[in-house]
Amino acid sequence: MQTFHIETVGCQMNVLDSELVMATLLQEGFQYVDSPKKADILLFNTCSIRQHAEDKIYSALGRLKHARESHPGKIIGVMGCMAQKDAGQIFRRAPHVELVVGPGQIARIPELIRKIQAGEGPQLELSLERKGKSRREVESSFDFFDPHRERAARANPYQAFVRVMFGCDQFCTYCIVPRVRGPEQSRAEGEILAEIDQLVEQGCREVTLIGQTVSKYREPTTRMPLSGLLAKVHDRTSPGGLERIRFVTSHPNSMTRDLLDAVRDLPRVMPFFHIPAQSGSNAVLKRMNRGYTVEKYREVLAAIRETVPEASITSDFIVGFCGETEADFEDTMRLVEESRFKNSFIFKFSPREGTKAWELFEDDIPEEVKRRRNNELLALQNRISEEDSAGFLGRKVEILVEGASKKEESLPIYGESTKLQLTGHTPCDRIVVFDGSPEMLGTIQTVTIEKTSPFTLFGKVA
Ligand code: 5AD
Ligand code: SF4
Repeated sequence: MQTFHIETVGCQMNVLDSELVMATLLQEGFQYVDSPKKADILLFNTCSIRQHAEDKIYSALGRLKHARESHPGKIIGVMGCMAQKDAGQIFRRAPHVELVVGPGQIARIPELIRKIQAGEGPQLELSLERKGKSRREVESSFDFFDPHRERAARANPYQAFVRVMFGCDQFCTYCIVPRVRGPEQSRAEGEILAEIDQLVEQGCREVTLIGQTVSKYREPTTRMPLSGLLAKVHDRTSPGGLERIRFVTSHPNSMTRDLLDAVRDLPRVMPFFHIPAQSGSNAVLKRMNRGYTVEKYREVLAAIRETVPEASITSDFIVGFCGETEADFEDTMRLVEESRFKNSFIFKFSPREGTKAWELFEDDIPEEVKRRRNNELLALQNRISEEDSAGFLGRKVEILVEGASKKEESLPIYGESTKLQLTGHTPCDRIVVFDGSPEMLGTIQTVTIEKTSPFTLFGKVA
């Protein structure tokens, strides 16, 4: 039997794509192995968002230069965003790679592997590039495939991502995603609900609806917005069945009243929003082509806090974007200070060829300035996260028990052991670690918080 392994980096889209590829390969009779070294077929699911992510893949590929000498017939493949963006360069820099597949063509992976094994040589499948093509041409070059889900292909059986949108039309000037993932397209309601039914049948307790701009979801025929979709998914929930619904990533410009009301009124839609701000300076937001001002962003946060007071909000920030002055950065610090995000993901700007920023602006902020700003913003956010976490001390929280904590991962979960360190998330998406027993996996438990750190709460089952 042929064995395979997939190494995944990048966002939730990639995690989901890897799951889908794994499911199809299992169904086609391939066998999964944990070891990249032993696998007959080794796939890298890649990310292009920052240079660093790409460099890491090239060095991993470099280390495999002689892999086929000791493992004849081993197939090395690259899928995901880097495959779409840099196919030619991958074959040039790593000639031992035989398979390159863009994110819109992953359904074809088993067939392409068979072709390589039949001696047809290296295989390349990509979507049409957006440049110079009509939207319809580009769209139709994607195989939209989110087929049968497979429990064995997920890290844990209780949680799953469900794609509700493909692609992105936002064209933030720093971002490569619209180029590699194609135009924004929402999936049909019927498809999404059928997939969720299947997941629930497989024991799934929480679904996270994902899209690069999920808050812009519109059903292709009925034009139903995300609030309507949330209500329909909510109809599928039940105690002991589907217990929780989440959605990421939101865009500040589509946080409409109906969406906030839906999160308030649907008890199984979790009070959690990921709404990247990217910067606290209007001049920078403008150069980023984000389409909103800081004032507008503040209004969105205020509306959420008023409608769903228990909600937690997380954000993304880029520091050191082209032309970012010290005063711009201070504006970002101020926004973080006053917004009290549960967490912020902070990135140093990394210029990407193929984006507007690459064409129009100079990457003029020195690396040490980027690093300093990154550290300052991180320290501020950590302080806020720590203070907010401390507010949970002594409180009772409901968590979905997801699995053993990292420390316990090597222990047999279903073995004889009766006491385990378990983890789960609160409705507002805070991680909780506590002692429990294997029967608790996949259930909702109430935990009393006894200790806190910036990003983890520790407690005891109440
Ligand atoms: N450089 C640094 N960070 C980036 N992001 C997107 N593009 C870049 C880039 N070129 C960040 C944004 C986005 C997150 C997923 O990655 O903050 O929200
Ligand atoms: Fe995800 Fe964007 Fe990275 Fe692609 S480039 S894997 S869409 S974060």
